[in-house]
Amino acid sequence: MISFTVNGKQRQVDVPPEMPLLWVIRESLNLTGTKYGCGIAVCGACTVHVDGAAVRSCVTPASAVAGRKVTTIEGLSERGDHPVQRAWTEVDVPQCGYCQSGQIMSAAALLARKPAPTDADIDDGMSGNICRCGTYQRIRAAVNRAAAIKKGGA
Ligand code: FES
Ligand code: FES
Repeated sequence: MISFTVNGKQRQVDVPPEMPLLWVIRESLNLTGTKYGCGIAVCGACTVHVDGAAVRSCVTPASAVAGRKVTTIEGLSERGDHPVQRAWTEVDVPQCGYCQSGQIMSAAALLARKPAPTDADIDDGMSGNICRCGTYQRIRAAVNRAAAIKKGGA
């Protein structure tokens, strides 16, 4: 049995310790906003936060999050109004949408550690998140917008 906090709630799951966190989130907890893309830590579709840092849940064993705080896209904000989510809506970033929860979780973690990123910081910080639809220009614009919203310039 592995205990950890997910989106502010204490959860216990009876899974093999090596099971990828992504499957625990999607299959055991039914939080399907986090997506499977590559399964080998290359695309970023499965990005969640563990104790506030972005991690790839497809290669994170369930045992690694015991006693820790996991946040998924469903728990990033109560009403979908995290600055990154607001900016994503304003800039209308998604195309097919498949990569976007991972993009948003990476952007939120980036802004938490770097509140006023340069374009180079954004490109660097988001470079591990692949978008097959090529929404990279809008992602950069939205991260800049989210930084402004966070700063109070909404
Ligand atoms: S599914 Fe985890 S990085 Fe691609
Ligand atoms: S919006 Fe389609 S893969 Fe990114």
